[in-house]
Amino acid sequence: MKLIEHRRIRSERRLIPYPILLAFCSLLFGAISLAAQTDLTGFWVLRVPTGDGNYRETFFDLKQAGEKITGRILFGPRELPISEGTFSNGKLHFVVTFRFDNQERTVNYDGTMEGGKISMTRVFPGRPPSSGIAERTTPDAALPPPRLPLPALHDVADNGLARTPPMGWNSWNKFAGKVDDAAVRGMADTMVATGMKDVGYNYINIDDTWQGPRDAQGNITPNRKFPDMKALADYVHSKGLKIGIYSSPGPKTCAGYEGSYGHEQQDANTYAAWGFDYLKYDWCSAGDIYKDEDMQAVYQKMGDALLKTGRPIVFSLCQYGLAEVWKWGPKVGGNLWRTTGDISDHWKSMENIGFKQFNIAPFIGPGHWNDPDMLEIGNGGMSGDEYRTHMALWSLLAAPLLAGNDLRAMSDETKSILMNTEIIAIDQDPLAKPAKKISERGPTLVVARPLNDNSMAVGLFNRGEAAATVTVPWSDLGLRGKLKVRDLWAHQDKGAIADQFSATVPAHGVVLITVKP
Ligand code: GLA
Repeated sequence: MKLIEHRRIRSERRLIPYPILLAFCSLLFGAISLAAQTDLTGFWVLRVPTGDGNYRETFFDLKQAGEKITGRILFGPRELPISEGTFSNGKLHFVVTFRFDNQERTVNYDGTMEGGKISMTRVFPGRPPSSGIAERTTPDAALPPPRLPLPALHDVADNGLARTPPMGWNSWNKFAGKVDDAAVRGMADTMVATGMKDVGYNYINIDDTWQGPRDAQGNITPNRKFPDMKALADYVHSKGLKIGIYSSPGPKTCAGYEGSYGHEQQDANTYAAWGFDYLKYDWCSAGDIYKDEDMQAVYQKMGDALLKTGRPIVFSLCQYGLAEVWKWGPKVGGNLWRTTGDISDHWKSMENIGFKQFNIAPFIGPGHWNDPDMLEIGNGGMSGDEYRTHMALWSLLAAPLLAGNDLRAMSDETKSILMNTEIIAIDQDPLAKPAKKISERGPTLVVARPLNDNSMAVGLFNRGEAAATVTVPWSDLGLRGKLKVRDLWAHQDKGAIADQFSATVPAHGVVLITVKP
């Protein structure tokens, strides 16, 4: 029997040429074994290079049944179901949909199985595709690290900084993940060359995405975009300016970079050794570990750490106005605290933020300021009138004036808005009195703020879509008789005016005056 069988096989072999048969068999067995053996069910981590030496991680929790793939993806606290998915012939495809900015977004993932790993491409709508490798991992890898105990509350001593609202530049609004050493040096050069420094702007602040990995001792290192932080800080200082840096109390920043969790004192020491003068500390992934009511203790930890370095470092709290931060911000050593979510370069965003700040305006004072987020002036998404409203409103509110545009490419109009010294003087007024909404009629409103020289800054705003006449009777301001009026955009004295002031205010615009008895 055996012999006969053997012969038959042999003869078959002779019928089909040997290499073709071999190729056919391996294909067949390959396909059968792939279908039979490869089951993608389980946890995977996709690492997409960010281009600066880091990887952005996304986790997949996949379930495979035949060729059908279901499950979810996890990035940070976000968890999204896979809405359709297949795995066949070594090719993985799945789709995830979510809502952002009130629109439904679809993200496509496509992968090819290569030796136990999946080579993947991700396509976000309207963005270039990004690629990386997915490997098997355990569900633990997607979890935040265990919660560290928090210190008992106490009052952190005032660091004596930011007696008036901080002024400067921050990288995020314009550059986001593209900020690098050259851009930061360029902003420092330009801040001096344009005269911005002379009118009070002095902080050059690096926002998120400067971080690299920690070294063997746990020290944070910068990524490829920032070859030498100490040299960069020295350069900015050599221009007579100060420099700021960014981190998170969580394990990851909002852009997914290394945060300061469990390394607070070590990081504060590193920033001080590099020569930094300002820290923006952004809640982000701390929210995966702590509750809103833990914020004070979490921020206190860094407030203490900064003081302990012995270097004067402005402490900027960024937690989007949660947990009534204005009530405890000064107690953790905070010099400013964000009062809202992120601004964007659109009228609606700026308007929604700016005109909602009056209730908390009384919480400002020398050394501690409400921060309705950085300026968008000059970024191109708003009209000149809208940017003038932005500048006037932020100055009335005594908000930090942190330009968020590319200073190297400013139009004359942008310069005239950011560098209006009379309006900057309102922002920086040493009396630090809060602005008040005086009246509101339809889309128009009057906002006023008492100033140190016994005058008052008065903004006549028009949020409407057509020009409107706005009137402010002196009695609304608690004043009477004749008042000296000066227009701060026109740089013009209007003379002594009795009883009231009226102006035609353009749509989305402002007329900003000072009045003096
Ligand atoms: C948050 C902050 C922003 C910016 C980004 C950086 O969204 O509110 O101002 O710092 O993080 O990732």
